[in-house]
Order: sequence, then structure tokens, then C-alpha cells
Amino acid sequence: MIRPAELIQRKRDGQELGAEELRELVLGYTRDEVPDYQMAAFLMAVYFKGLSSAETFALTDAMIASGETIDLGAALGRKCVDKHSTGGVGDKTSIAVGPVVAACGVPFGKMSGRGLGHTGGTLDKLDAIPGYRVELTTEEFVAQLREVGLAIIGQSADLVPADKRLYALRDVTATVDNISLIAASIMSKKIAGGADAIVLDVKVGDGAFMKTLDDGRALAEAMIELGRRADRKVVCLLTDMDQPLGRAVGNALELREALATLRGAGPPDFSELVLSSAGHLLALSDLRVNQAQGRWRAEQAVADGSAVEAYERWIRAQGGDPSEDALPRAPVVREVTAPRAGWVRRLSAIQVGLAALHLGAGRATKEAEIDHAVGVICLRKRGDAVAAGDVLAEVHARDDASGEEAAREVLAAYELGEEAGRERKIILDIIG
Ligand code: URA
Repeated sequence: MIRPAELIQRKRDGQELGAEELRELVLGYTRDEVPDYQMAAFLMAVYFKGLSSAETFALTDAMIASGETIDLGAALGRKCVDKHSTGGVGDKTSIAVGPVVAACGVPFGKMSGRGLGHTGGTLDKLDAIPGYRVELTTEEFVAQLREVGLAIIGQSADLVPADKRLYALRDVTATVDNISLIAASIMSKKIAGGADAIVLDVKVGDGAFMKTLDDGRALAEAMIELGRRADRKVVCLLTDMDQPLGRAVGNALELREALATLRGAGPPDFSELVLSSAGHLLALSDLRVNQAQGRWRAEQAVADGSAVEAYERWIRAQGGDPSEDALPRAPVVREVTAPRAGWVRRLSAIQVGLAALHLGAGRATKEAEIDHAVGVICLRKRGDAVAAGDVLAEVHARDDASGEEAAREVLAAYELGEEAGRERKIILDIIG
């Protein structure tokens, strides 16, 4: 039997712990045998001293062992692909990528999470669709993947229960932003969720957990290594989160943008990320295509309408109404205008994310209700020229007072300069 205080002390002193010790600690914590205060101290020791690659794998393995696992490949008799983002502002990528990949004939099964802080979660966005059921049983999930080729559901409580508890503890003990802990948290869920190949989107910038490209690369490499050890193919895209992704931030607004993108009329940065991610997923699937061929197929699925059809089949299969008119609309729309002429030099993702959060698009506390109709549309983005009085953004609000406050916050997120500045691409690097 391990003694948690000893493990905390050894980690505090920078020693490497054994796989069996980490396993007992994590399983003991999940069974309520190790109290929160000892686990919190352990997490803080890890935060300062780090984990070796062997320890990170052992932690991931222990977290997986805390619950059930699914083998989608065996259940479907073919390869299943999945994608995951580390969380950003305006990130509706899965909602567009899933239908594109499914339209190309590859099963896309995903368990998603809810929003965290200023970042939106895929499930919260899908909740904006009247009737959509996020909670399917594992049997329903597999059956829908077999019949429709696409399912996005909430994380099952039986899968990696250790992460649920550890994440909540990290959230309140300032131990979220540690590369080993993030890598173990994400990859334990991806591996237990059963996909054979995974495309990871590591967000980098002021609106992301990873603020610098170097940190983003270190996280990507840690997750690729965990995937390799678990026999899963993993490709990591490092993508820009210094400004919001696409134009829309807020649940129903983002769904409309995902739909426009499936029809070929999405914003350039978001469309690029969707097509590139889909290309990588198809290249990792059993279609026997490379990334360029995969991307070409993804482009065809958008051009010939099969991606939108896949979206409609998927939403109906999960009980939802796929029509755009069914999505809620906010009663108040306020324009944010440019106070002078210039170029958009910066558009802070975190500030737009916080404005959307204050409007009610996200949760201020775990229990808070989300307003699915509200949010922000950033019509002008970095590198755009504007004249004085041009509309920079729209704020979609529940009432005048919250709209006015958010309009002020969104205006403060914009920095106008005398020249265009150097444009940063949406995809900063690809590893794996
Ligand atoms: N997303 C996760 O699922 N876990 C983390 O630790 C951070 C982001």
C-alpha cells in the first residue's frame, strides 16, 4: 500500500515515481481513499517539478484504468477517427469537421466537453440545437456511428472518472496549465474513447492555455508520445489563438458559421482549419489516401453538398432540428464601429472570449445557465483595413445594458495601427 505523503515528498524533491505508485495514487483518489488535500499537494509538486515521459504515460494509463474503455475499431470493424482541441475562442471546428469526414465515408465518433472559462465547449454549442441529445448510451453511440457515420456526445461518466475529479481539483488549485497534466488529461480521454487515429489541435496565443509556440510544441510532443505508447496515430496542428477563430463567438452564432462553412461560405481561417483537419483525419483513416488527397476529398464534400447532408443526417439522428431557422436569435444586436481609420493590428481572443462570457455565452460558475443566442461576430480581423465608422463587430445580446457593456469590451479588444503588420497564418506548425 502506498503512502501518499511519501509520494508527495519524493515528487516535491524532484524524484521520479514508479508506474505502480502513480497507479495506486490515482486509483486510490478515484475510490476516495486519498483525500483532496493530498492530491492537491501532489498536483502542485508535479506543477513545479514536472513528470518524466515515463511518469506521464503511467499517469495517463492509471487515469484510463479508473473507468471503462471503448474499442470503436472492434465495434465497427473499421478505423474510427477523432479530433480534439485544447480549447479556444470561436472554436466550432468539430461541428464542421465531423460532417466533412463522415461525408467522405470515414466514421467520426467524438466525446466532447463543455466550455471552460472563456473557452466554449462543443457540447454547449450543440445544446443550442432544439431537441439535440448529447447523452447517448455507449450502445446508441456505436449504433449511430454504424448507421450515420457520425456522432458527437457528452463524455460518459464511466470513461476516465479520475480526470473528472482531477480536473475539478486542478481548476481550483492553480494546477491546470502544466504540460504533463494537460497531456495526460486529454490523451486519457482520447485513448479510452476508442479512436484509432486522432488529430489534435493545440491552440497557441492569448486566448489559449499555451501562450507561446514553444509551449504548444512541448504539449504536442507530449501528446504524440502518449499516443505512440498507446498504439494510436496522432497528428498535432498548432493553430493561432491570438485572435478568435472565424468570426462568430457564441453558441448559436458559431453553429450558423459552421453551417455556412459546410456550404463553402465560411471565413477563410476557419475554412482552412476545417479542410486541413479533415485532410489529416482522412489520411489517418483506412481510406488509403495521403493528406493532399484527403484534403481534396474534403473540398469535394463541401462543393457537392454531401457535407451539409451529413450534418443534417447527424443532427436528426441525435433528435435535433438541423434547420438554421430553428437556432435561437438574440433580441438586441449592437454594432461596434471603428473610432478612426487604420488597420486591425490586434484582436485579442481572450478579450472577445470574456465579452461573450459576460453576455452569457459561457458559464461564470459551474452551475450557471448558458444563453445560447448571445455572442459576438468579429467582422474585421487582423490585417483588415478599416475606415472611421466601419463596423468592426456585432454584439448579440439579451438586453441593451449587457449589449452596451459588451460593445465596450469588444472595442477594447481591437487595436488599430497605421499599417497592416505581418499576417500570421491560422496553422502555425504541424507535428507528427
Ligand atoms: N482540456 C482537457 O481536457 N484537459 C486539460 O487539462 C486541459 C484542456
